[in-house]
Formats: sequence, structure tokens, C-alpha cells
Amino acid sequence: MVDDLSVVILAAGQGLRMRSDLPKVLHTLGGKPMLSRVIETALSLTQDVQVVVGHAKEQLQRQIDLPVRWIEQAEQLGTAHAVKMALPYISDYKGKTLILYGDIPCIDTSNLTALVEKGNKESLVLLTDISDMPTGYGRIIRDLAGKIARIVEEKDASKEEKQIKEINTGIYLVPNPYLHLWLKNIKNHNAQGEYYLTDIIQLAYEAGVCIESVQVSHSYLTMGVNNSIQLAKLERLFQQQQAEQLMQKGLTLRDPSRFDLRGTICFGKDVVVDVNVVFEGKNVLGNQVTIGANCVLKDVTIRDGATIYPFSHLEDCVVNEDVKVGPYARLRPKATLARGSQVGNFVEIKSAQIGQKSKVNHLSYIGDTTVGENTNIGAGTVTCNYNGVTKYRTTIGADCFIGSGTMLVAPVTVGDGATVAAGSTITKSCPEKQLTIARSKQVSLSGWHRPKKEEK
Ligand code: UD1
Ligand code: MG
Repeated sequence: MVDDLSVVILAAGQGLRMRSDLPKVLHTLGGKPMLSRVIETALSLTQDVQVVVGHAKEQLQRQIDLPVRWIEQAEQLGTAHAVKMALPYISDYKGKTLILYGDIPCIDTSNLTALVEKGNKESLVLLTDISDMPTGYGRIIRDLAGKIARIVEEKDASKEEKQIKEINTGIYLVPNPYLHLWLKNIKNHNAQGEYYLTDIIQLAYEAGVCIESVQVSHSYLTMGVNNSIQLAKLERLFQQQQAEQLMQKGLTLRDPSRFDLRGTICFGKDVVVDVNVVFEGKNVLGNQVTIGANCVLKDVTIRDGATIYPFSHLEDCVVNEDVKVGPYARLRPKATLARGSQVGNFVEIKSAQIGQKSKVNHLSYIGDTTVGENTNIGAGTVTCNYNGVTKYRTTIGADCFIGSGTMLVAPVTVGDGATVAAGSTITKSCPEKQLTIARSKQVSLSGWHRPKKEEK
């Protein structure tokens, strides 16, 4: 935490180019609203965070539950005007203010810390970048001695000024007394008729205040988002960065360009993730875990030696040691698979515990159920857990054999060691160790003839 530091995040722009009903800063990067990312980074530096927003204030406040002050800028008259809205909450005699943007979501604590460490109460610090494609950005103008003298916006720049590759990222650290003073003096005499925050640079220069700069460590950290194309490009860069960090920690990704992490993942040794896997929420993987291609995993715990085969979808579930899941399996919330169990293709498990070494290998629905150890559940078994109003539980013991095509109409219990014949519809408890058959008797009619079409 930095003493006497305020952060102002500008996020009042309407984001018209997103062509969306959702406020721009609520669009997600890495599964999280862009503005939430910026706020979380700001909160890593100080508890004094102000967010300047426009007409969407209430919606933003509702959806982003973080300890900040929300300030409304009713009319968007420019970046300087936006910062002015926050001035009543900023000291006019001590401290510094860091300006950030809701649509520059990747800025990180380490670059901001470098900025903050360079500043003192007599200097203004800018975060800059050198770009081969500076179009659209404000350019840094230096005097003959090489000192930063002003910033010129693209729309106000001359042909020569447009050649400059040193650009303004828009992120600054300003001593508070100067911020109060300069914001009073900014005019809107420019191509866009806006109050430009960038004008404080020239005011500082004219007042003889020291202007420093810090170059951002990676360009993508200060890339802004104005439309869906930029959002998608930044998402890729962000994902690539995450993937590289995970690989440095020892995760094997078959192709880091086909990997998406929209949340967090922690993992042990020798974990292998095949292509097109999406992780959401909080995920914990043990050692020697393998995730096949095209799986989606959200809030999962997968323990040592487990294998998830391709095209499986897992949410809020626990997969224990040496379990095999899929291909094409679906584990829904509160599914727990005990050590060495197997769940195969086209099987859906919800709110159910599958015991050690038990198998549900084909085309089944197991919901609101407890299954003991070493039980085999045949293809096409369905726990009929819902009567349209209430959900009921099914209890299946250890060492059971449930024949294919069994309907278990809950609430119902199958005792340890019981066998249920294929095709049974079970509505009453099945005793331990006995064979239960509940299907209509098969008959064959010997004198029967198949109807024939009359010949014309
Ligand atoms: C700004 C800088 C430019 C810099 C660029 C970096 C100015 C004048 N220019 O330009 O030098 O290179 O950022 O991305 O500051 N906003 C408000 N209220 C307003 C206007 C803007 O909250 O009245 C917010 C926007 O929502 C956005 C941010 O301020 O998050 C920047 O505004 P924008 O209009 O995008 O400025 P740029 O033209 O990109
Ligand atoms: Mg912008």
C-alpha cells in the first residue's frame, strides 16, 4: 500500500463502438469485467479509489462489488473534466493521484509501482510507450533539451508530429496540489472541443515542474479497448501471457494459443492440458493430471493421477485420485467421484457421490444419488429423481450390479451386493445380495402370422 495515494479511474465513456447494450467496461477480459480488473489493480496500491462513470453508474455499482467511490460524470466533456468530478474527494494540499482508465484493463501493479516510485511531490510522471503504430494516441513532444514539453492529440497533430513514435498511454501520477491548480486552467480549444487532461503536461512544463516518464514494460499492458476487434486481440495477448506464466511454473500446454483461463488454476507436477481447454473460476489440479482436448472446466478440484478425456464438461465437482472421466462426460455441481472410479461417455452426474472403483461408463443420468464402492452401473441407467415438484435421493450400496436400461424411481435404495436385472423399473427397495427383476414377462406366440399386403 502506498501512503497518500489516490487513484481516479476514468470510465464514463459510452463505448458506442462496441455496439452493445452492455456498458463497455463490463465486457470481460479473461472472464472478468475490464473495470473490475482495473479496480483490483488499483486496490493493490491504495484503498482510496474513485471511479468516474456515466449514465450506467447504478448498473456498474450493482455488478462490481468492490470498495470504491462511484462518481457520476453526467456529460462527457473530456478526460480533464472527468478527473474534475473526483476533485472534491482529493486533498488539495498533500498526496498524489494516479489516473487510470476502465478500458485499459491489463495495466499491472508492477508498472504502476514503478511510476509511483519515480514520483515525488514536485514531479509529474507519465507512463509512455514507443509504438510503431502510434495512430490514435497522443504523441509526446520534447523540447530541444529532450525534456517532455507537451502532448499533442492525434486529431490536433501536424504531419511531423504524427511521425513521433513516443506515445501517451494516458496513465499519469500527479501531485494533488498541482492537479487542483492545473485542472482549473484547462480550456477546450482543440479539434474535439473537449477538456483534455493531456494539457496538464504543458501547464507543468510552463510552471517549471519536473516531468518524468516511465516506459511501460510490455505494450499490451496499456492497450485500450474501443471495439470488439480490439477486445478479442487483447484477450489473445492476455491469454498468451497467462499461458506463458503457467508454462514457466511447469504446466504442459499442448498449444498455448488454444488455451483459455478465465479465472485461476493451481496445479502440481506433470499436468498436461491438451488443445482447446477452457478453465473458468477457481481450479485446483493435483500431480499427473491429464486434461484431454476440448474440455470446459469450472471450479473443479481434480486430484493426483486423474484423467479427463476429450469433450468433457465439469463444473463445481471433485474428481479424486486415479479417476477416469469421459470422453463426452458431464459432471454437474456437487458431483464427487471417489478414488479409482470411472465415468464414461454420455454420462451426466449431478449432486452425487460415486464410490471408490465404481463405474458408470455409458449413457446414464445419476442425480441426487449416493453410490457405494465397486458398484457397476450399466448403460442407460437413469435415476428418476424428480416428480415435477420435488427431488428425491437414490441410494445404491457397495458391490452392486445395476443392469443396463434400469430406471431407479427415487426415493429408492439398492442394498449392498444387490443385482438389478437389465430393463427393470425399480420403485421399491432392492434387498442386499438378491437379484431384483422388475420388467414385464416376455412371451412368444407360436401361431402368429405377420400381416401381408393384399396383391392387386
Ligand atoms: C486519451 C489521451 C491520449 C492517450 C490515450 C491513451 C486525452 C485527451 N487523450 O485519448 O493522449 O494517448 O488516451 O489511450 O486524455 N472518459 C471519461 N469522461 C470523458 C472522456 C473520457 O470518463 O469525458 C474516459 C473514457 O471512458 C476512457 C478514457 O477516459 O476510459 C479515455 O478517453 P478517450 O476518449 O478514449 O481518450 P483517447 O482519445 O483515447
Ligand atoms: Mg481511448
